[in-house]
Amino acid sequence: MTDATRRDDGHTAVKETGFITAVIRAMENERPDAYLADPHAALLSTPRSRAMAEEALAAGGTVGSVIVRGRFGDIALGEAMDQGITQVVCLAAGSDTRAWRLPLPSGTRFFEIDLPGQLEAKDALLAPIADRLTCRRVTLAEDLRESTWPRRLKDAGYDRAKPAVWVVEGLLPYVETGHFTRLLTHIEEMSSPGSVLLVDAPHAAYFTDPANARFLAFMKARGSAFRLGLEDFGGFLNRCGWQAEAYTLRQLAAGACPWVPAPPERLCPPRDHHWVARARLA
Ligand SMILES: C[S@@+](CC[C@H](N)C(=O)[O-])C[C@H]1O[C@@H](n2cnc3c(N)ncnc32)[C@H](O)[C@@H]1O
Repeated sequence: MTDATRRDDGHTAVKETGFITAVIRAMENERPDAYLADPHAALLSTPRSRAMAEEALAAGGTVGSVIVRGRFGDIALGEAMDQGITQVVCLAAGSDTRAWRLPLPSGTRFFEIDLPGQLEAKDALLAPIADRLTCRRVTLAEDLRESTWPRRLKDAGYDRAKPAVWVVEGLLPYVETGHFTRLLTHIEEMSSPGSVLLVDAPHAAYFTDPANARFLAFMKARGSAFRLGLEDFGGFLNRCGWQAEAYTLRQLAAGACPWVPAPPERLCPPRDHHWVARARLA
């Protein structure tokens, strides 16, 4: 991690979660039975981010949601690309390395948005593999709780007339329901028919399960409190105008999703009440 993320701008703790997820992906990548392959995550896994991840895991954090949404998203993104979609918008991109590691068609435009400083910090650490970019990548520094990002995205070359894949992974724990609803409205306004939304969120039960009390207190104390949990994620997305398929980690482990290999039990412990979803705009 660089000084750009370490200096406190009021968002430091929440931005650090992006590097904690990188460590979790690097650890998974090293396993012989890895469910998600992310060879570039090791470059983002610095001594400081490893220490933060160790602390989070010791407090009861789980790795499942990070790893499972990663594989779910990789497969869904690949399908969308096969169907001819050439724009990806990764909101709260953090340490996402898909622009480097997925075989994206060369004409793909890959937009990444995160809080100021976050993507610069990632780019510095990924400098050794800068030549591996598989697409045309554009980064924007924006607070996604505000309404300024859609205009900047258009100015940066996003084409509203073409379908897009929207990736929103790991953001929702850190925003209020109202922010998410507004974000969805903006995404919908910016999307043409055929667009795909890949999104994950804590289940409401995450907050009431006593097994998560220590981790929730830890996240609050470090300045990155979990806020948003949803009872029925698919229903929520459908009411917002999307056609959604949503699965809990437990449902995925039981083989409920026909297009994603069932994740192993070790990634879906009963206390990790978490949703992953794919939704389409008709
Ligand atoms: C847990 S990380 C997830 C990063 C990445 N999507 C992943 O799955 O690994 C959360 C990310 O959300 C970003 N974030 C949190 N609140 C945000 C906001 N209001 N606007 C933009 N980005 C935000 C953080 O900076 C961080 O990179």
